[in-house]
Amino acid sequence: MHDQPVKRRVLQGQCVWPISPNQARVEGNAVIFTSYDDPFHRPESGFLGLPHVEYDPVAVDGIITPAFCDWHFHWVQHRVAGVRGKPLLGWLAEDAWPEEARFADAGFASVAAEGFARKQAAAGTLAGSCWGSPHAQSLRAARDAGVRYSLIGPAVMTSGEPDYLRRSLEETLAELRALQVEFEERLAVSPRFALSVDARAMKELRDFAWDYTLWLQTHLAENEDECAAVARTWPQAKSYVDVYDSAGLLTPRTLLAHCVHLDDFDWRTIKQRGSIVVHCPTSNEALGSGRMKLEKVRALDIPWVLGTDIGAGPSLCMLDVIETVTRIHDWSAPVSTLEAFFRATVSLEMLESYASRKSRVTRMLGTARAGFIEFARPKSIDRADRDPERILSAIVEDWRNRGEAVIQRVWDQNFNLVHQA
Ligand code: GUN
Ligand code: FE
Repeated sequence: MHDQPVKRRVLQGQCVWPISPNQARVEGNAVIFTSYDDPFHRPESGFLGLPHVEYDPVAVDGIITPAFCDWHFHWVQHRVAGVRGKPLLGWLAEDAWPEEARFADAGFASVAAEGFARKQAAAGTLAGSCWGSPHAQSLRAARDAGVRYSLIGPAVMTSGEPDYLRRSLEETLAELRALQVEFEERLAVSPRFALSVDARAMKELRDFAWDYTLWLQTHLAENEDECAAVARTWPQAKSYVDVYDSAGLLTPRTLLAHCVHLDDFDWRTIKQRGSIVVHCPTSNEALGSGRMKLEKVRALDIPWVLGTDIGAGPSLCMLDVIETVTRIHDWSAPVSTLEAFFRATVSLEMLESYASRKSRVTRMLGTARAGFIEFARPKSIDRADRDPERILSAIVEDWRNRGEAVIQRVWDQNFNLVHQA
């Protein structure tokens, strides 16, 4: 029955595979046959009636790493990216929201989505958590254009500014129910922030997420003026974190973007609820939001990952985020390039392992990544090099000089080529 060998495309070349914040497997000429950890563990083939597997290797001259996962990006804002020095609330009102309003038009949305999908693949990002505008159409346009995401949700805005993006809670819930049928467990329940959703809406959204076992995502304590406005809008709440916590929005399947202006009690609450922090350093720098206190995240061992937050973040390429996160934290929380690559390649499977609270040892093993990137080989790196920090730092240094041209080829989990420079 299995006389014919099964041909499988694999990659062959030098590989740096970050498997924890401070460990990577580095191989000079590995055959990589899976996006799982460990990607070099070859299965037995051709015995007991299993088909004989023949490898069909693609020779790779550069450096292979897992593809990027961007855990916080607004695909509908990519056309307005690059504004600098405008604080959050003004930027939202003047740049982000007027742009999002255009996604009410289905034709506009599908053209924009095609542009975004191309840029995203060229940037090496194949997964992560995506925000649409409040219009369901923006999710469908992204899906149909081949935008890559693990989770995606429309920005939920049932109260606050601006009136032209606001919808009623009833309309929002009806639309979410329809989207859940189409997107299933990839639908992320996405209350925009504490100025866009009132207490009743938060509780309804939490119940909806609970009923369908969905991930939640939101923005938390990004900017000082925002925090002051939240305190005025929610006079009963003890803090910004308390607004979300009282509504039950802090779950092990909640992604919290920014987390810049929090005190020790807030951090302990996040730790106790098991939620995941999405650090967006390029966005925080561009809007002058402040530095997230990574030392607090580390001290409590809160799980964290990285996001571009495009369009507040200037670039949809995670190399920009990697470069920034290794640069901005002082001696209280230094981040190696290896750790930055690890945090930029954590897959949904890995987050699910965190969320289901498996043991620290098993939760990272046997989990798949989003795909593979080939980076141009830096001049200073030869095939005998086995130091992941030196290799990855050389890639980032090349990116500083040459930009995204350092990303030569990108493959998905099934070794389908999705981008070639
Ligand atoms: N807070 C609420 N909405 C947004 C948004 O779209 N971008 C950023 N950076 N922060 C927000
Ligand atoms: Fe954001």
